[in-house]
Amino acid sequence: MRLLVIGASRGTGRLVVEQALRAGHDVRAMIRDPAQAAALEELGATTVVGDLEGELEHAFDGVEGVCFCAGSGSRTGPDATLRVDLHGAVRTIDACTARGVERYVMLSSIAADDPLRGRASIRHYLAAKHAADRLLLASDLAATVVRPGALTHDPGTGRVTIGVPRVPEHGAIPRADVAAVMVACLERPTTVGAVFELVAGDTPIDEALATL
Ligand SMILES: NC(=O)c1ccc[n+]([C@@H]2O[C@H](COP(=O)([O-])OP(=O)(O)OC[C@H]3O[C@@H](n4cnc5c(N)ncnc54)[C@H](OP(=O)(O)O)[C@@H]3O)[C@@H](O)[C@H]2O)c1
Repeated sequence: MRLLVIGASRGTGRLVVEQALRAGHDVRAMIRDPAQAAALEELGATTVVGDLEGELEHAFDGVEGVCFCAGSGSRTGPDATLRVDLHGAVRTIDACTARGVERYVMLSSIAADDPLRGRASIRHYLAAKHAADRLLLASDLAATVVRPGALTHDPGTGRVTIGVPRVPEHGAIPRADVAAVMVACLERPTTVGAVFELVAGDTPIDEALATL
């Protein structure tokens, strides 16, 4: 699949690039800073410069699927959360619709189904994720919404717990396992329309996704 990874420079998005390439996808990595291109191109991806707060429509030309992995981060204020996590995501949904991109896998967050479940300090962020997820699911795109717990830099285990709509309790998960789940969803038509929470667990990823 010709795949656009948004938020590809680091974190989960960078791992999605690596794993999608390994799975045989033709990956275009969206970055903000051209200096980030060489590292991604060495992996085998092509790169495109785009910004959720600026020019981005050109990045979707010829694309068949999108993995949205960008985020404003915990060090920015609620204004950046609105501009990037909410409006940035909305703009990508619109760009997909306008350009005929069919598949969209959204990296959301645990508790985005009900922002009041989250700590008071992050409820604005969960509200942004909730609204973006709702707009995606109401669009005509073939969407999957992945809602992980706290992300760690631990090595991936290939094993997870999936909860529809919720996991039994909040937990953490390595970014590598979230990336593996997002890439696996691209290959599984049965995950279209699915919305699920995701934490570390004992079930192999393929087996967990097969329950959706
Ligand atoms: N941290 C957690 O515990 C947690 C839990 C659940 C869900 N999530 C969600 O998981 C996702 C990934 O988190 P992460 O910690 O792995 O990623 P991260 O390391 O915070 O990386 C964020 C990515 O978003 C990009 N980005 C930021 N603003 C952008 C903009 N205006 N336009 C385009 N790209 C932009 C960054 O690019 P630059 O390099 O240019 O800054 C970077 O590639 C986020 O959506 C986050 O909300 C996080």
